[in-house]
Amino acid sequence: MEIAKNNFELNDLLQNINGNLGFVPTMGSLHEGHISLIESSKKLFDNTVVSIFVNPTQFGPGEDFEKYPRNENNDIAVLKRHKVDLLYLPSASDVYPNDYAPISFTSPLTNKLEGALRPGHFDGVIQVVYRLLSLVNPDGIFLGKKDAQQLKILSLMIDQLTLPVKVHACEIIRENNGLALSSRNAYLSKNDKVSASTIYKGLLSAKAEFRSGSLDTEVVTAAFIDSIDPSIIKNIDYVSIVDQATFTPTNGSINSDALMLVAVRFGSTRLIDNIELTI
Ligand code: PAF
Repeated sequence: MEIAKNNFELNDLLQNINGNLGFVPTMGSLHEGHISLIESSKKLFDNTVVSIFVNPTQFGPGEDFEKYPRNENNDIAVLKRHKVDLLYLPSASDVYPNDYAPISFTSPLTNKLEGALRPGHFDGVIQVVYRLLSLVNPDGIFLGKKDAQQLKILSLMIDQLTLPVKVHACEIIRENNGLALSSRNAYLSKNDKVSASTIYKGLLSAKAEFRSGSLDTEVVTAAFIDSIDPSIIKNIDYVSIVDQATFTPTNGSINSDALMLVAVRFGSTRLIDNIELTI
């Protein structure tokens, strides 16, 4: 595996690559969710490039930028084991040089749900992914469905700016108990991880309610709320059912393919998850 530690090295290495390119952007601290993105890329593309960059612009004041788990040596070993072709490990000045003009793209979706609770978060994600795409210039980008709103916003950006890259959305990878994998799970103890699986149980209850014929948004939402253990999850930031295609909240009856999106606080850690409610 080649490693590019700056843009000069990246350009050099990219020039020597033959064939098409799949790209997996990450913030490191890699887990099986990332590995599944990498393996999907390797199946479809001649070469797979992974980036690791903990992007400061997507963290708000008081969020966990400083303590975000960083595991570079272990990540490099994991990527070598999975035979990734190229790892891009930029510094902040490679991604955001002084003369860099931010891309102007926004969507009303950036201020909803996660965006309402984390102002500026999606603007930071848009900036970094646009910049990484312009540096790496891949044919495909691999993104996880766990960050469903991020996936939607980035797909809109790529579509509306007609960027020449295809989005590949990959399934959520879960622990055996259902907890969705996330680098932030590193903040949870072993017992916490068992308890946090109540989130997925709640999502499954909502899906079962929906599948049994309840199309009422309130009834399906209540199935989630009623089935999670309130002694474990004391704060629900949001539970929302949105139309899968437009991300507009379903009011009243769920009459198109939908997604239930949830964000809860588990101690001092925020966890997000979602489940598809398909007709
Ligand atoms: O999902 C993530 O890990 C990040 O938001 C991303 C897409 C790598 C941008 O920093």
